Amino acid sequence: MTRDVGRGLGLRRLFARILASASVAAGAAACSSQDTGCPDAQERALVFDLTTRTETCGDAADAGKASDASDAGDAGVPKDAGACTCEELCAKVQGYSVRTCRYLSATQLECTAAPPCLGGRKPEGLSVPRLPPSDRRTAFLLGCAHMEAASVIAFARLADDLEVLGAPAGLVVRMRAAAGDEVRHARDVLALAGDHSMPVVDITPARRKDAFTIALENAREGCVRETFAALVACRQAASARDEAVRTVMTTIAADETRHAELSWELASWLDERLDDDQRRAVVRAREDEARALRAELAARRLPEDTDLGLPGAAEAVGLMDAFVRSVVVAGGRTTSTSSMSWAG
Ligand SMILES: [Fe+2]
Ligand SMILES: [Fe+2]
Repeated sequence: MTRDVGRGLGLRRLFARILASASVAAGAAACSSQDTGCPDAQERALVFDLTTRTETCGDAADAGKASDASDAGDAGVPKDAGACTCEELCAKVQGYSVRTCRYLSATQLECTAAPPCLGGRKPEGLSVPRLPPSDRRTAFLLGCAHMEAASVIAFARLADDLEVLGAPAGLVVRMRAAAGDEVRHARDVLALAGDHSMPVVDITPARRKDAFTIALENAREGCVRETFAALVACRQAASARDEAVRTVMTTIAADETRHAELSWELASWLDERLDDDQRRAVVRAREDEARALRAELAARRLPEDTDLGLPGAAEAVGLMDAFVRSVVVAGGRTTSTSSMSWAG
């Protein structure tokens, strides 16, 4: 049976409903955040267990970089951390803009990172950007501009892969149009950041992907991250105190909502090309990514900034919980619904 969250309600209406129900709680959340004050909380260190991770980077010859990049002291450094440097592993686990990284032991990594940008679809092989020293708002916007620029590559590569897989021409055309949207987003967000140049987008060469690999990536980057980013963009468009931000985010919110619907449409198309085991793996990937994103939001990785219209941590987590219940668990338009129970 095909679930029909996206088509039946339309994500725009669903987002409006989620934001309306979150607004009551948002007032209390904002008050408590202001009362306690926690200016650096979003950069606090998080510890990760490497034994549960399967990331790989570069080629094995680069494995030695791990010990060079880390400040392990007496702690053990993995002999083979998937040939990743400490920073690379941190970026893959934590998400974005690594500030510090060190191994606590052979199986534990501690890293701090700048707030994540929720503005786009992260392509495979994207390096952590080197951002110039700046205030937190500027750093966040530059990180977003970098992610928007990287999303151009993500959609272009996705369109190429889908063309090879024989996807409907309309789907491919809309992926290429989305790449064009991301060009505008990158330019407009960079303008909000002021007099800065675009952070360099450093990425490994593209590799051709099969339907299952694309489905996994789309589950994480499209159905979870980009779809939640669209919801947050809608909030920013409605409530950013800075008029220039509201103007930019109004356009971006509309585009990102369309991209989110495209992600779920792609998920549905890919679903029919997977076997049962693969479909279950895709559902798990969505669930795992949703949990990871919720943990990031709970750790205040999104700056609470009323000029930018960003929610505080408590509201962001509330939005995430509502988003998961309404969209992720329901499985969007796909046949692969989840049996996960979401405690949030
Ligand atoms: Fe997008
Ligand atoms: Fe975008």
